[in-house]
Formats: sequence, structure tokens, C-alpha cells
Amino acid sequence: MAEIRYDLNTGYPHLSVIPRDALARLSNELICANRGLQYGGDLKGVLFGREAVANFLQRHTDSAVQPSDLILTSGSLQGIDIACRALCIPGDVVAVESPTFFFAISILRMSHVKVIGVPMTPEGIDLDALDALAEKYGARLRMLYTMQTYQNPTGLCTAAAHREKLVALAKRRQFAILEDTAYQFLHYGPPPPPMLRHFDPGGGTVITVGTFSKIIAPSLRQGWLWSTREQTQLFATYKADASASLLTTEILSEYLKQEDIDAQIAFLQDTYRRRRDKMVEALKQYLPDGAEWIAPQGGFFVWIVLPPHLSATELRALTQAQGMDFMPGQISFAGETADRYVRLCFTYAEEEALDAGIAVLGACLKEHEKQVAR
Ligand SMILES: Cc1ncc(COP(=O)(O)O)c(C=O)c1O
Repeated sequence: MAEIRYDLNTGYPHLSVIPRDALARLSNELICANRGLQYGGDLKGVLFGREAVANFLQRHTDSAVQPSDLILTSGSLQGIDIACRALCIPGDVVAVESPTFFFAISILRMSHVKVIGVPMTPEGIDLDALDALAEKYGARLRMLYTMQTYQNPTGLCTAAAHREKLVALAKRRQFAILEDTAYQFLHYGPPPPPMLRHFDPGGGTVITVGTFSKIIAPSLRQGWLWSTREQTQLFATYKADASASLLTTEILSEYLKQEDIDAQIAFLQDTYRRRRDKMVEALKQYLPDGAEWIAPQGGFFVWIVLPPHLSATELRALTQAQGMDFMPGQISFAGETADRYVRLCFTYAEEEALDAGIAVLGACLKEHEKQVAR
């Protein structure tokens, strides 16, 4: 395989946006002061860390957030694992969007549950199909894993009315909603509607996972699981690592105290908006008719649906030979699906790839169409 010069596959932040100087200074100061070197001592995460995250969430949502409603997790991925293991028994059903975040499918399956995809409409998850699934499986449908804001991989953001109906459906059918808010703060236009928790004011139905990976640094592995005080007590008993890293909890807490997280988020929004625009311009310029996509209003990804007679796998073989890579969208589905989806990430590659990589994609797509027509 040719060397990949244009990596539009990897869904990471670019290293240049990470506040390296602040993290270096805080790490040095904390370690030299003998802070953060011990075990954390509390399955939920140390109180000052939960206070810092509660304060952050309180300022960025319209909900009252108590430290006792939070568990600090090793990234939001651990929150998904804990919620699923605590709420489900093997054989239970967990619904996911079709498509969804590919790694969440693997994590959920680690709990030996049956993961079933529910189709997406342009408005969000198909509520009638979800209702039909609840009718079919009854109490075995324990949980829905969902992203409402700039979904990975489609970039879709649902309207407030759809969110409200989804929470009402979950309450009526008595399944939990695990909302992943990884991209909630990364909007490149007007802010998105509030998280689902807003539509479940006292909590109990909606459980929220979130992360500092996308707004500070993935390597901190600092995320949160936000539920009720009672659910938090239960979830803590499923925490297998004693506590989140005390060192990175200390770093995070001091970062939130001493640095301006709102300025960091504004900087990310400006940077990623520019990158999104660049990719969108290139898509308009180079992609042949027939490939469908919409410009996302936030998040990391653009999702392309190819015409039914084309194959993303064959297209990828052509682009890889030209040094460009994308994520084949098929892995984002819990069940069988067509091979006609392409996920592009605009936050990780070098900026030139946002134009040059899309030029390769467009040329390979035309080449693939010719091959199929022969
Ligand atoms: C939707 C979603 N959730 C969670 C994660 C991972 O988050 P964390 O680093 O907090 O574990 C990602 C990262 O790609 C993601 O896209």
C-alpha cells in the first residue's frame, strides 16, 4: 500500500490544537508538589475533580449538576461500558442508531447484549421503528445508546422537539437512554439544542457520558458519567480501575480553575469551522454527482452516501493506492448493511489534505464509476 499522505480516516483532534504549554506547566507543578501521584481513593473520582466537572457542566448546560451525580471515568468510553454492564444482563437488547459510533458497538457487545440498529431519518433516530423494537422486545430492551449532537459518523444534530419526543418514548416504554455528548461543545454555527438530560429534569431515564478528549486532550482520559445520585452509587460498583487517574484529574481540575476553557472551545470552533469549510468546498469541487453528503454544523465528520451500485471498499482500495484514506462506513452499523458509506474526518489531517485528499477521492470515485460501468 502507498504511504498515506492524506489521512481523512482517523477521528482524532490535530495535535496542534491541544493546549500543550498549559498541560506541561500544570503537570510539572503538580508532580513537583507531590500531587496526583497516589491512587484516587474514591471509585467515583475525587471530590474536587467531580466539583470541577459539575461546575463546568453547570455553566455549559441549563441543568443543576451535583458532584454526587457524577463519576469521573477514564474517557467517556469507560462510561459506556459501566452503564451497559450495570443496567443490562447478557441477552438484553441495546438499541443504537444505524449508523452509530463503531467503537461503541464493540464496547456494548462486551456486556454480551444484543445490539440492534434502528434506522436514522434526516430528523434523527426513527421513533416509530424504535417504538416497534420496544413493542417486540418488551422489558428486554434495556437501553438506547445515542448521539443527538453532531453524531459520529453522520454529523447529524437533532432538533429540540425530536429530543423531547425521544425522552417521552423512553419513559413510556421504560428503557434507559445513554446519551454520548462527545461533540456537544463543537458547533460551528448557532449552538445546538440542550442535551437530552434537559428533557428529563430529575434524571432517571437519561444517563449522559461526556469527555474532555475533544476539547482539551484525549490522553488525559478524563470523561464523566452523569446520572442521579442513586444510579451513581450503582455505577460506582462497576468501576474496575479503582478510580480515574488522580494525576490527570488534578491536571484537569487545575486547568479548569486556572485556564480559560471557554477560550479554548472558541479557538477549536474557529479552527474546525475553517477546516470544515475547506473540506466542504473541496467536496463541492471534486465529487461527481450521485454522491450525497451534507455539510455538518459541528463535530468532526462528513458522511457520504455513494450511489447503490458503487462499493466503498473498492473505492478505498483505489484511494489508498493514491495515498488517501477514509473510514469505510460499514463498520458503523450493528447489522448487515450496504457497502456504500464513506466517513471523512476534517479535524486530524494536515490542512492541505482537506483539499488534495478530496481531489484524490473525487478522481478515484470517477475511476470506480468507470470500472463499474465496463
Ligand atoms: C461519539 C464518541 N464517543 C466517545 C469517543 C471517545 O471518547 P473518550 O476519549 O472520552 O473515551 C469518541 C471518540 O472518537 C466518539 O466519537
